[in-house]
Amino acid sequence: MLDQLSTLESSALAELSATSTPEALEAWRIAYLGGSGKLKSAMAGLKDVPKDQKPAVGARLNAVKAALEAAFETRKSSLAPTTSAPAVDMTEPGLIETSTLGRRHILTRVREELVEVFARMGFEVAQGPELEDDEHNFVKLNIPPHHPAREPSDNFYVDDPARVARPRMLRSQTSTVQVRVMEQAVKAGGGRLQAPIRIIAPGRVYRPDTVDATHSFMFHQIEGLAVDRGVTMSDLKSTLLQFARAYFGPDAEIRLRPSFFPFTEPSAELDMKIRLRPEDEPRWIELGGCGMVDPAVFSLCGIDPEQWTGFAFGFGIERIAMGKYGIPDIRLLFQNDLRFLNQV
Ligand code: DAH
Repeated sequence: MLDQLSTLESSALAELSATSTPEALEAWRIAYLGGSGKLKSAMAGLKDVPKDQKPAVGARLNAVKAALEAAFETRKSSLAPTTSAPAVDMTEPGLIETSTLGRRHILTRVREELVEVFARMGFEVAQGPELEDDEHNFVKLNIPPHHPAREPSDNFYVDDPARVARPRMLRSQTSTVQVRVMEQAVKAGGGRLQAPIRIIAPGRVYRPDTVDATHSFMFHQIEGLAVDRGVTMSDLKSTLLQFARAYFGPDAEIRLRPSFFPFTEPSAELDMKIRLRPEDEPRWIELGGCGMVDPAVFSLCGIDPEQWTGFAFGFGIERIAMGKYGIPDIRLLFQNDLRFLNQV
């Protein structure tokens, strides 16, 4: 009987360690520890054991029972799921239905597009400070001392122009960068112009205008300057036409209207005929000024106007953005209203 109990115990433990599912474990429990299980029948056999052996066999029976029960509990907990956290359904929609993806502001995108188009035509980006002095904003652009453009009411002066010799100001035009680039190119050549120059300068400009649908006290311009030997007005016009077609599409037309700027001679206003939406008629949109660099500007920057010629242009980036995307009011570009920004 004692031998039989040992065999029962070892085969029970071997079978137990082979169980790998809760169902198999339960089947094992019923087979060994259940009401009509093998342990129960072994216990029933105790009555046939000779009286003198009964205590030893009884003790052994109890020990086997305790061992199997303990082994059963251990196996049960090792088969239980390792985490008690509720299962997570990864496919269930979240509480926030959609998360919106941010993107760059429309003006930033237009500026980058313009830089890209001009880069393909060989223009590099140049920069100048927004806090300027009147030498770069006016003097070297051939804007004389009592020119109306210098009025304190038309500029954000930082120093009082009546008291300070070189008053500082927030630049009112990116044409300041033309001056800086030409000065730099003369300096780099040790007093002789290092040419050719082909730059564009996108950036902020400031004017104390009353804000309305087409005016803002701060806006953006993109300036262009090309200087070389023998640059002509037809180079200017073909550059502008190429730009218009690259940016607004192959049907874009341009028109130069005679105008006046102190720093160009001759000077023109540039209009572009563009179709805003497929269903619209194309219409003329004024983009800004342009012209051939005035010889006086060359001289003021230390460049010999007998040897060098150049063209320049300056456009409003907001104008271009509004024209291209059909935006009716410049204020929309600065209010950061998501209802607007999500549309453009
Ligand atoms: N700076 C002028 C403005 O702000 C625009 C302009 C006109 C720039 C003619 C130029 C140019 O470079 O050649 O109104």
